[in-house]
Amino acid sequence: MSKPFNQLLVIFGATGDLVRRKLAPSLLALYRNGSIPEKFEVIGVGRKKMSDDGFRSIIREGLKLNNENSLPDNIAVEDFLSHFSYFSSNMTDSKDFVGLRDLIQKKDRDCEAGGNYIFYLATPSNLYSDITEHLCHAGLCSEEKGFRRFVYEKPFGYDLESFYKLNKSLKKFLKESQIYRIDHYLGKETVQNILVTRFSNGIFEPLWNRNYIHHVEITAAEDVGVENRGGYYDNAGAMRDMVQNHLLQIVGLTSMEPPSSLNADAIRNEILKVLQSLRPISEDEVEKNFLRGQYTSAIINGIKVPGYREEPGVNPESRTETYLAMKFYIDNWRWGGVPFFIRTGKRLPVRVTEIVIHFKSTPHFLFHVDDPGKSFNSMVIRIQPDEGILLKFCIKKPGPGFIVENADMDFHYSELEIERIPLPYERLLADVMKGDSTLFGRSDIIEAAWKFLEPVQNAWKRKTGKIYGYPAGTWGPENADNLIGEGLTWRYPCKNLSKGGKYCEL
Ligand code: BG6
Repeated sequence: MSKPFNQLLVIFGATGDLVRRKLAPSLLALYRNGSIPEKFEVIGVGRKKMSDDGFRSIIREGLKLNNENSLPDNIAVEDFLSHFSYFSSNMTDSKDFVGLRDLIQKKDRDCEAGGNYIFYLATPSNLYSDITEHLCHAGLCSEEKGFRRFVYEKPFGYDLESFYKLNKSLKKFLKESQIYRIDHYLGKETVQNILVTRFSNGIFEPLWNRNYIHHVEITAAEDVGVENRGGYYDNAGAMRDMVQNHLLQIVGLTSMEPPSSLNADAIRNEILKVLQSLRPISEDEVEKNFLRGQYTSAIINGIKVPGYREEPGVNPESRTETYLAMKFYIDNWRWGGVPFFIRTGKRLPVRVTEIVIHFKSTPHFLFHVDDPGKSFNSMVIRIQPDEGILLKFCIKKPGPGFIVENADMDFHYSELEIERIPLPYERLLADVMKGDSTLFGRSDIIEAAWKFLEPVQNAWKRKTGKIYGYPAGTWGPENADNLIGEGLTWRYPCKNLSKGGKYCEL
């Protein structure tokens, strides 16, 4: 594979968690497997005053965190770190950008970048417009000499109105082709595998519609709390943090029509159609179809964990949801009448993300089952951990009578002879370096997601709806099962793909 052109990567918000935990390890992985340009430099920009060495120590710590507390291979790491430098700025003062431009130009000469720059904005989104404008006023946006790509972290906006405002302010300075709205879920191998599973297996696609599918369930559970991001999270909540972006993208990939090719726009056009077909929800229907929860203090494995309202940076009277379960429909020919369910939350028993396709039962079920769930076939697409696919089907339990049991057919990525699954940011950074935007959010898709959720946000602004407490370490509010109805419940997954059950060993 050919290497991308020499280039500079300028990261704003460089001392934050994202850079240490995700970007730095991903860059190192690219560096080690030779996918990084022949010559490259990384400039970190942050508010803190710090030397280049100070910044390198932060990155070094991040690399250790991601490698069971030790550096993978010292020599390669130190060589890698020598490409990092730091520039201190409050990021809102235009004067700073003159100094930054001088540093960029110097580094450009050092690494023969030829004017190829990536600007990665890993800051709160309220800084995106200012930073972009200052960069452009400093003459750093025009692509006359080299490419200029701008990467923006999610959430892109705060609601529909702020999305429009932000998009408009960026479009004043940049072409759409320069904008990369990152959603790291699209960088996950297993998320991309949804397309391959659906569109390369003739056996599934004929069944993938309202005639055979009873309902679709998507779970993204996390066992961690808000960690040290209370300030950010309290303004986001589960809906802005996970649903508006990551999980609606997964809905798009799971339910889209086959694209005409693998071209970026062909895929994104199909995702857009799905999001535009989401049945609008009126403000009055929100309470019935969206269930919010907030974790409360509990003892987990003998250790007391704080409730959400006691977390640093969180308002002690906060009404922000740390758990959200929702029901919705896609009004098109393929999916008319099939309910979709999403459930996501912090401080649930286990970290697991999966899609469950529940197929309809046979038209007349001959056999007795104690649990109605057992009469359905289901397919679990496990995004993480224990990545893989599981198909559940009915068998006769050996012995007298006809007792029906579920049996499993499963595939685990860990069984493949591959060294490791690439990190999501690794794939996405490599794509930006090459200029491939297939796995990035397009503005009309993000707009459709905000539009769908707007009535929900409006209803919640009235502050009258219920938010249920749930003890940290449990599966969220008990009544979330009522959303599904018909005596059915959510699948309660374990870390191990093939195991499920509310109280299974985690
Ligand atoms: C991020 C959210 O986008 O995704 C976090 O801001 C969340 O709150 C994270 O923890 C989950 O990502 P992953 O890859 O661990 O599922």
